[in-house]
Amino acid sequence: MVLTAVVTGAARGIGRCVVTRLRTAGYRVVAVDVSPAVSELAEDGWVVPVAADVSADATPGAVVGRAVAEFGRLDLLVNNAGRFLRRPILETTDDDFDAVFAVNVRPVFRFTRAALPHLVGSRGCVVNTASISGLVGIANQSVYAMTKGAVVQLTRQLAIECAGAGVRVNAVAPGAVDTEFMAEARRADPDPAASLAVTLGNHPIGRMSTPDEVARAIVFLASPQSSGITGTILSVDGGYIAR
Ligand SMILES: NC(=O)c1ccc[n+]([C@@H]2O[C@H](COP(=O)([O-])OP(=O)(O)OC[C@H]3O[C@@H](n4cnc5c(N)ncnc54)[C@H](O)[C@@H]3O)[C@@H](O)[C@H]2O)c1
Repeated sequence: MVLTAVVTGAARGIGRCVVTRLRTAGYRVVAVDVSPAVSELAEDGWVVPVAADVSADATPGAVVGRAVAEFGRLDLLVNNAGRFLRRPILETTDDDFDAVFAVNVRPVFRFTRAALPHLVGSRGCVVNTASISGLVGIANQSVYAMTKGAVVQLTRQLAIECAGAGVRVNAVAPGAVDTEFMAEARRADPDPAASLAVTLGNHPIGRMSTPDEVARAIVFLASPQSSGITGTILSVDGGYIAR
């Protein structure tokens, strides 16, 4: 039996590493990203890239339908696509709020709802990419933190709601990860070097995590190695929230 996964935000960063790790573990993958670069992941019969915006109404149903049509089953949903916003609340507009929730929250709910009937059939898993920002307060991230708090709570809620059906639901909570996501945020900062120094100083291991370190935690939460784990928010944060 060949396991099948849907991974969102797959074109680069953490999501791309998740696709690589899942392929190594023998999964077939439907890889979704708004960036056309997702097509680079195409692998005949093994990786189906879908260039689509997760926030578009039709995307979750179409992607889950594609996975089941191509591969005949669905065992894993990785809700990983996300965008960042670092902005003081007094400078944060209603449009900012709507735009970040539209990508970080609504599609997590809608992809999960579309996938669940198939995951119940396969006794599969959902793994969400949350953030330490959904667990502790960090200045100037009010809207982003709210979105990741919502992902944390949906994870816990569904873990309980779906446990009887044999579906496990977990999340990872990364600290700073060395991807374009963080690099873009730093470039927008008036003093990128000082901003990086503060970030590193807040992580006891003295560095950012690599995207593959986060991907390995995601694949662990999808694997039989974690069969007793559901409703867990697994921090991959170099000790950030242990301080
Ligand atoms: N990098 C970090 O420091 C960090 C820390 C904590 C949590 N996270 C979370 O990890 C996840 C992945 O982040 P990353 O660091 O790999 O970022 P990244 O920016 O490198 O990759 C994110 C991917 O998501 C895609 N994406 C964004 N909006 C999309 C949309 N509307 N539809 C489809 N695809 C979309 C992007 O095109 C990109 O390929 C995000 O949910 C992010 O919030 C990242």
